Amino acid sequence: MGERENVVIGVAGGIATITINRPEKRNALNAATRADLIETLEDLAADADVRVVVITGAGEKAFIAGADITEFEGRTSIDQFRVMSGVTVFEAIDRFPKPVIAAINGYCLGGGCELAMACDIRIAADTAKLGQPEVNLGLLPGGGGTQRLPRLVGLGTAYRLLYTGAIIDAAEAHRIGLVDDVVPAGELPHRVTALAAAIATKSPVALQLIKEAVRASVRTPLDEGMRHERTLFGLAFSSQDKAEGVAAFLEKRAAEYTGR
Ligand code: COA
Repeated sequence: MGERENVVIGVAGGIATITINRPEKRNALNAATRADLIETLEDLAADADVRVVVITGAGEKAFIAGADITEFEGRTSIDQFRVMSGVTVFEAIDRFPKPVIAAINGYCLGGGCELAMACDIRIAADTAKLGQPEVNLGLLPGGGGTQRLPRLVGLGTAYRLLYTGAIIDAAEAHRIGLVDDVVPAGELPHRVTALAAAIATKSPVALQLIKEAVRASVRTPLDEGMRHERTLFGLAFSSQDKAEGVAAFLEKRAAEYTGR
């Protein structure tokens, strides 16, 4: 797998790390990078050795500084519509059948913040800066910012950030619930790897079904979500991982999951 033009992929111990690799452009998402990311995710979804994915940015300055603004110039409505039809990188992450963690190592703006919000868990370096500055370009977020931000931080805080385009520090992002943890910048890779490694020991079947059920929780009324959860719970009973997990508990040993 290794390397594409704009992303570097490293796989170790069941953890695949995708590094967006345009540090000189603050890892801004141009069309080529988005395509590389989508293809990479397709490969990683199919790779049974990969249990968890981490997404981060190259260099010390940026996670992702947003969409590549140079591509906006001269683009027509229909051009933009075409760019955003088909599977977007945000959907590709959201639908990805394994846990995805954003390791936010610097500027996390616009489409970068939307990408982080599409991930399951966000861990930020204490030096990270986050925001949705699209309003400063006469635009609104187009990758889920108006939808996922209010779900994470509540309506009032989302409106404040979206209306002002304010860029906030990691501590504030943590306080409002935009990120799940803040760690010293130098410890970010190690801390994220430790979390990913803990998740990677679990049953891939259970992880996938948990993600499916939690995704439903923000899309469906409670009764429907509960029904969906029960169906998935029943489905888990047909897995070898469930037989292994229960047997390992009863035999007082560590479970070894195969994802089957
Ligand atoms: N799209 C295209 N290029 C971008 C970019 C983006 N979103 N963000 C940064 N870059 C480019 C800069 O144009 C610059 O290119 P150059 O060296 O060819 O001039 C390079 O990356 C370095 O950026 P610079 O502004 O010099 O770095 P900085 O560390 O001083 O500031 C930011 C970093 C992220 C604060 C600043 O680049 C910025 O505000 N970027 C735009 C953020 C944004 O509005 N995102 C939402 C887009 S919808």
